[in-house]
Amino acid sequence: MSNTALIKFDEKEISCPVIVGTEGEKAIDARNLRKDTGYIFYDQGYGNTGSCESAITYLDGDNGVLRHRGYPIEQLALYSDYVETAYLVIYGELPNLKQRNKFSELLAENAAIGTQMQRIFDGFPESAPPMGMLTSIVSSLAAYYPQYATNNFEQDLKTFDLAAPMTISRIRTIVAMIYRYRHGLPFIHPRDLPFCDNFLHMMFSDPYVAYTPIPEVTRALNLLLLLHADHEQNCSTSTVRMVASSGANMFTSISAGVCALSGPLHGGANSAVMHMLQSIHDEGDDGTRFIAAAKSGTKGNRLMGFGHAVYRNYDPRARIIGKACDELLNRLGKSDPLLDIAKHLEQAALHDDYFLTRKLYPNVDFYSGIIMRALGIPTDMFTVMFAIGRSPGWIANWKEVASNTKGRIYRPRQIYVGATKRDYTPLDQRR
Ligand code: SDX
Repeated sequence: MSNTALIKFDEKEISCPVIVGTEGEKAIDARNLRKDTGYIFYDQGYGNTGSCESAITYLDGDNGVLRHRGYPIEQLALYSDYVETAYLVIYGELPNLKQRNKFSELLAENAAIGTQMQRIFDGFPESAPPMGMLTSIVSSLAAYYPQYATNNFEQDLKTFDLAAPMTISRIRTIVAMIYRYRHGLPFIHPRDLPFCDNFLHMMFSDPYVAYTPIPEVTRALNLLLLLHADHEQNCSTSTVRMVASSGANMFTSISAGVCALSGPLHGGANSAVMHMLQSIHDEGDDGTRFIAAAKSGTKGNRLMGFGHAVYRNYDPRARIIGKACDELLNRLGKSDPLLDIAKHLEQAALHDDYFLTRKLYPNVDFYSGIIMRALGIPTDMFTVMFAIGRSPGWIANWKEVASNTKGRIYRPRQIYVGATKRDYTPLDQRR
């Protein structure tokens, strides 16, 4: 295989180096293309463009492969938990017992939000959308903890081993506080509990009666967060890297990631799936009418939770979550008509040429809402839950940018299609 790519145009020919990754992915190194030719590549949505080299997550969209630091997601889902996977995503290796305990201690020690910072909540109406609150409050971490957010990579990397677990822990606590605030409930202080138990405690305990989840509930939440831990250069993670490339601190970069996550085509899809399933249920439809509308291809009618910018096969996370839905509902002795509708939709779509020819399969969001609903988490809190899960991936990507001494600020080019040069017209001469 050649290690250069020849590009011919205007009777000229240039050769570009080819970069090959550890899994055999190939890229044409176009870093000198504009300097050498005056040309740029045009790739709307960057679907064919690599913005970085990364060692965190590997995706093979054609074969539905997802690995974090080389470990298949199926094995992590079976044997690991969210805290351990978060450590793996951030530090690159599974923790030994000492490392695991230290990381867990830091998560527990940094679970509480200070009284000054709690005052932010008072500035929001109780009806405020959870993601609107989360984006604002996460970005305020840089204001309340400036010692970890100096915007000097060398300095911020020195405090990284405390700032990283603090960020994961605080985002978890902020999400629980958002839930309490929006339901007019008093904040519940964290206790010395494992990560997910502490979250459920802060969400559902009362000041006088502690909420004690059954192990299956904690395990389901662990699995859900683990499956969201990282996912290569998705929209929100790329946003984190984009902001970090300017030298911005981790809190600020991650708050930009939270903003990017809020869109319905990305992190907002999990709640959009539930609204879709609920409307199908309320119409008494079996999904047939909805699938017909989804095939119109208009963005507003899409089958939410289906399709993916990278997977042209089943999202491996969707398989795992789909199975976990049945297990959790069976253990809770619950049934959910929306799960039955989801399964019918899945089967109908997977036998429909429109979806098959476009290689549209269920993604992580298709079933995740069913689990969160079974845990008692309201639909409008689904996307902020995604943010808890994804925080390790955002942190790990920020660290890759901050540690790259040869890194450059992200500055894509464009093709200008506006007005060509024209002279100013005084107001009295304009029609
Ligand atoms: C996440 O990137 C990540 O890794 C994200 C994520 C992560 O972990 O970070 O995996 C999390 O965001 C998952 C995706 C959640 N979003 C949704 O479920 C929203 C519904 N899905 C789509 O909007 C869409 O599939 C995207 C946005 C996910 C992917 O869009 P693409 O790759 O840009 O696909 P496209 O818009 O170019 O569509 C290709 C064709 C089009 O039809 P034609 O123009 O060829 O006729 O497929 C059609 C689209 O109309 N299509 C759909 C569809 N998704 C694509 N048609 C109906 N329903 C859908 N869901």
